Amino acid sequence: MIELELANGVKIPQIGMGTWQINDKDTLQELIKTANELGYSLLDTAAAYSNEISIGKAWTQLGIKREDLFLSDKVWNSNRGFEAVQSACRKSLKKLKTDYLDLYLIHWPASPKLYDDWKILNAETWRGMEQLYQEGLVRAIGVCNFKSHHLDALSKTAQVMPMVNQVEFHPGMPQQELISYCRERGICVEASSPLGNGAVLVNAQLKELAKVKDKTVAQICLRYGVEKGLVVLPKTTNPVRLQENLAVYDCELSDEEMRMIDAIPYCGGIGIDPDEVTEFG
Ligand SMILES: NC(=O)c1ccc[n+]([C@@H]2O[C@H](COP(=O)([O-])OP(=O)(O)OC[C@H]3O[C@@H](n4cnc5c(N)ncnc54)[C@H](OP(=O)(O)O)[C@@H]3O)[C@@H](O)[C@H]2O)c1
Repeated sequence: MIELELANGVKIPQIGMGTWQINDKDTLQELIKTANELGYSLLDTAAAYSNEISIGKAWTQLGIKREDLFLSDKVWNSNRGFEAVQSACRKSLKKLKTDYLDLYLIHWPASPKLYDDWKILNAETWRGMEQLYQEGLVRAIGVCNFKSHHLDALSKTAQVMPMVNQVEFHPGMPQQELISYCRERGICVEASSPLGNGAVLVNAQLKELAKVKDKTVAQICLRYGVEKGLVVLPKTTNPVRLQENLAVYDCELSDEEMRMIDAIPYCGGIGIDPDEVTEFG
C-alpha cells in the first residue's frame, strides 16, 4: 500500500476503508478480516457512526496487530470544547480497544452562520486536540469539512496546524480551491465519499472513460483522487469490491482525462454545506 507523509512525519496509507453506515457487527468483522488480508490498514470511523465498539471487537478478536492498523476517528459536534473533546477521545479509545489513535479529527466546524462564537468554539476544541496530541493519545490531528475561512480562523490560535482536512471529494465535487489552499499549508486532504456515496457511479462520461481504460467507474473515481495526491476512503460492504477499490495503481489518467473529470458538473453525493451543520449534524 502506498503511503503519504503528514506534516509531522506520520505515514498514512493512501487508500483506507470507510465505515460510515456499516453498523452490523458481523458484517464489520467479516469486512475488516478481508480488508486486513488484502492489505488495508486505514479504518476511518467516527463517534457518530456508532460502530466503534464493533470495530474494537473485530480487530482484537481477529488477532490483528495494533501496529498493522491505522485507526482514524472523529469527535462529534456535541463534544466541542477543550475538556469535552478530551473526554470524548478517551471514551472512543476504550470502545476501539486501543490506547492511541493514529489520527483524530474534528468532524464538523462550528460555523459563522450558526454560532456567534464559532471561532472560539473551534479554537477551544482544537486546543483540546493539541493536548491529546501532546499527551501521545493521538499520533496526528486534523479536521473534517473545514473550508478555508474555518482554517484561516483556526490558524490565528493554533500551536500546531491540522495535519489533515477530510472533505467530500469526487467527480462533480473537485474542491480545487480548497485542495490548493490545503496543499500550500502542508495539510493532507482526505477524500470522503470518493464515490459520491454511490451517486456518481452512473455518470455517463465516467462510464465511457472506464470503458476506454478497462477499469470500473469506481476505480476511475478513486484513481482521480489518487492522482490528485489525496487519501481516498471508499466504503463498501462487498468484499469483492474491497479488492476492486485497491486496484487503482495500474492505471493512469492523462492530463486531458483529469481535466475532463474536473469539469463534470455536480452529479450527486452528500452535498452538505459545512456552514449549515448544527450540533446534531
Ligand atoms: N468526515 C465526514 O463528514 C464524512 C462524510 C462522509 C463520508 N465520510 C467517510 O468517507 C467514507 C466513504 O464515503 P461514503 O460512505 O459516503 O461512500 P462512497 O465510498 O463515496 O460510496 C459508497 C457507495 O458506493 C458503493 N461502492 C463502493 N465500492 C464500489 C465499487 N467498487 N463498485 C460499485 N459500487 C461501489 C457502495 O455500495 P456497497 O456497499 O454495496 O458496495 C456504496 O453504495 C465513509 O464511509 C466515511 O468513512 C466522512
